[in-house]
Amino acid sequence: MAISGELYRQLGRASAGAVSVVATYEEDSEAVVGLTISSYVTLSYEPPLVMYAIQRHTASYSPMVTCRSFGISLLAAGQSGIARHFAQPRRERGTQMPFDTGAHVRVPLIPQALAQIECVTNEVFMSGDHAIVVGLVEAARTREGEPLLYFGRQYGIFAPLPGR
Ligand SMILES: Cc1cc2nc3c(=O)[nH]c(=O)nc-3n(C[C@H](O)[C@H](O)[C@H](O)COP(=O)(O)O)c2cc1C
Repeated sequence: MAISGELYRQLGRASAGAVSVVATYEEDSEAVVGLTISSYVTLSYEPPLVMYAIQRHTASYSPMVTCRSFGISLLAAGQSGIARHFAQPRRERGTQMPFDTGAHVRVPLIPQALAQIECVTNEVFMSGDHAIVVGLVEAARTREGEPLLYFGRQYGIFAPLPGR
């Protein structure tokens, strides 16, 4: 490895990010597979593409990279409990969370999220120990509110600097 594992982890802790939940319905089932992510990025305007990265060793990896559609919910400031829930290993999560189902694509979405995005899987790229999943946005909605952020292993909220 070119740099130490510890330095690499420090790089991760040095970056702040918005927190989202990406989820899909397991094939032929009502069961939801999903995880908390901070790797969501809007990728392309035309066509409208978004992407996220998923670690190969998560339990959700296989269903998430093979599913035909998925939902991304950008969490609002008050939704850290939901972020914590979906960051736990799947087998330790206990009770199911309530979901909205997409109006155009059958995908699970977090109610009251700052944005709900309904995607059809467009491309999956393998890269290192992650896959990069690109989704074509079929439908989306946003609501007024503040985002949930993550920095240095803590959830937080956005505070604008005075004077812009
Ligand atoms: C704030 C935050 C952001 C995360 N971002 C990602 C991410 O972008 N990609 C990823 O694969 N895991 C990410 N994780 C870790 C997953 O949420 C976690 O490994 C997964 O939910 C564990 O469940 P599973 O292995 O049963 O699927 C993140 C965790 C937290 C707390």
